[in-house]
Amino acid sequence: MTRCMNARDCSVLMACRNPYAANFVKNTCAKPDLLHFYETNLASLKSVKKTSDEILNRNQKIDIVILNAAVFGLPWTLTDDGLETSFQVNYLSQYYLLMNIEKVLSPNARVVFVSSESHRNITWSMEEVLAPNVDLLSIPKEKYTSIKAYNVSKLCGLLAMHYLGYRWLNTGKQVFSAHPGSFVKTKLCRNWWVYEALYSFMLPFSKSISQAASTPLYCATSPELEGLSALYFKDCQRCEESELAKDFHLSFRIQDLTYDLLREWISSSEEVTQVAQTDEYRDQRKDDSMDENTLISSYSG
Ligand SMILES: NC(=O)c1ccc[n+]([C@@H]2O[C@H](COP(=O)([O-])OP(=O)(O)OC[C@H]3O[C@@H](n4cnc5c(N)ncnc54)[C@H](OP(=O)(O)O)[C@@H]3O)[C@@H](O)[C@H]2O)c1
Repeated sequence: MTRCMNARDCSVLMACRNPYAANFVKNTCAKPDLLHFYETNLASLKSVKKTSDEILNRNQKIDIVILNAAVFGLPWTLTDDGLETSFQVNYLSQYYLLMNIEKVLSPNARVVFVSSESHRNITWSMEEVLAPNVDLLSIPKEKYTSIKAYNVSKLCGLLAMHYLGYRWLNTGKQVFSAHPGSFVKTKLCRNWWVYEALYSFMLPFSKSISQAASTPLYCATSPELEGLSALYFKDCQRCEESELAKDFHLSFRIQDLTYDLLREWISSSEEVTQVAQTDEYRDQRKDDSMDENTLISSYSG
């Protein structure tokens, strides 16, 4: 995706943890001067905050945000912030980054959550849907399976897309989710030899890595999507997400949990000035709820 954007003269800010991988991309890009690397570990909210501050300090508008990073198939581990790793890396930290840089998004910016068809495999009971708690998202060890944690993180991304589609209603900002393809042989399967073997076996039937980049890039750049928002795509075509992912009320509840987790972290960290900023965010969230029901009917997502 970076190479493709670079070939079309985009300046790309790469927020990633591995300087060698970033350098490799830089050295194989047509216009390396347009690439900027921000060392970011998504398993640490502090690191995400540092990157956000550096991006804000550039004082430049951002037209496209692609939230692409993910882990899959990990044994149960906690991040620096005490949260289950897949949940934090695949969703929470990337959402936090987006929230922090929202003020420098250009008026008609596009945000793309790189999603997965596997979000469909999550079923929650009515009780869980009506009153989700943090354990449902940051899964504790005794209830953990790596597939479930991954699928939940992807569901959270889709729900966040719907929340943002609503929040940015009647603005020029757009938000989409994109499934890149199934069993694409990337580094995603590196954490367990069984997945490595499965993805290798599926290689002749799955998309190449370049092909897999096409749907997120389509969502990020296609003029065909002008005026649309809060939609899910696969194979560069509109696709219905799962019923759970479309549950508009659930997207607000997950948003509240997300806010609570971030606020808890922010108040316990030394970034005191951020508390005020997050309070603003909570107030905005409250305003949203006030006319939630009236606006739901006019929401096109
Ligand atoms: N491959 C598939 O079949 C498939 C199917 C459906 C959806 N997807 C989605 O496609 C997206 C891209 O995945 P991929 O297949 O290209 O897998 P990948 O090659 O493993 O890429 C994932 C990226 O996330 C980065 N990352 C992981 N943990 C991180 C952390 N703590 N901090 C910062 N960066 C971190 C990795 O960085 P490092 O290089 O430093 O590890 C890597 O660059 C993901 O959202 C995935 O869920 C993939």
